[in-house]
Amino acid sequence: MNVTKTIDFREKGKVLVTPDVHALDDACAEMIVKAAADAIAARGRFTIALSGGSTPKPLYALLATEPWRTRIDWSRTHFFLGDERFVPSTSNQSNFKMANDALISKVPVPADNVHRIDTDHGEPVEAAEEYEEEIRKFFGPKPRLDFNLLGIGTNGHTASLFPGRPTLKVRDRLVVADEIPEVHMWRITFTVPLINDSRCILFLVAGADKAGILNQVLRGPHEPERLPSQLIRANGGSLIWLMDEAAAANL
Ligand code: 6PG
Repeated sequence: MNVTKTIDFREKGKVLVTPDVHALDDACAEMIVKAAADAIAARGRFTIALSGGSTPKPLYALLATEPWRTRIDWSRTHFFLGDERFVPSTSNQSNFKMANDALISKVPVPADNVHRIDTDHGEPVEAAEEYEEEIRKFFGPKPRLDFNLLGIGTNGHTASLFPGRPTLKVRDRLVVADEIPEVHMWRITFTVPLINDSRCILFLVAGADKAGILNQVLRGPHEPERLPSQLIRANGGSLIWLMDEAAAANL
């Protein structure tokens, strides 16, 4: 991995900086390959929650190509979505569609191993309840994902945990629905506890437009209502911020 700088922010996580976005995606792919091998060796399966947005799209496409494609045992891999926009799965706004087009449909993962949020039927609140039920059935009483990929918005949100929203305080649920005024849509999202219980939480961040929010989140005062990404803390696992030099410019 071509990591040119590391900064240890202790409980806020460890920052790893790569020269550019290609090195960023290579480094992230390498970490996912290792996490998958370790999880499959230890527990016979690898569970990963994918994030949406634009940043991870080239990473997903990379994982579907050699050499990465054959370095992961897809038959033992389970895909989840850390959050979803409540739009039809055929919509270009759908996180599942983005991940499916770039990766999931391109690798031999069994259909039963793809745990998607149903946004094509019913209402958002039902979709969140059903997804939570599926996660509880899959993991048992203490859900613990092996890998939770996250992004960060320029407003400090992560997954679909947005500033000022009541969902930031939810601790007795795994998945919630929220009608978010800021983006004029319903979202379904992992809650803070579910994310924080993951074995590895990794923020994948690229580009100069994220330099300001990263400085606020990692070096600024603790203001989680305004900066929801500050709620993400590893609960027994690891918290990594993997970013390119452009995003790390203000750290
Ligand atoms: C979503 C994502 C969201 C995303 C950030 C960053 O549904 O949009 O899950 O949390 O990770 O908004 O998005 P970009 O990668 O496009 O900057």
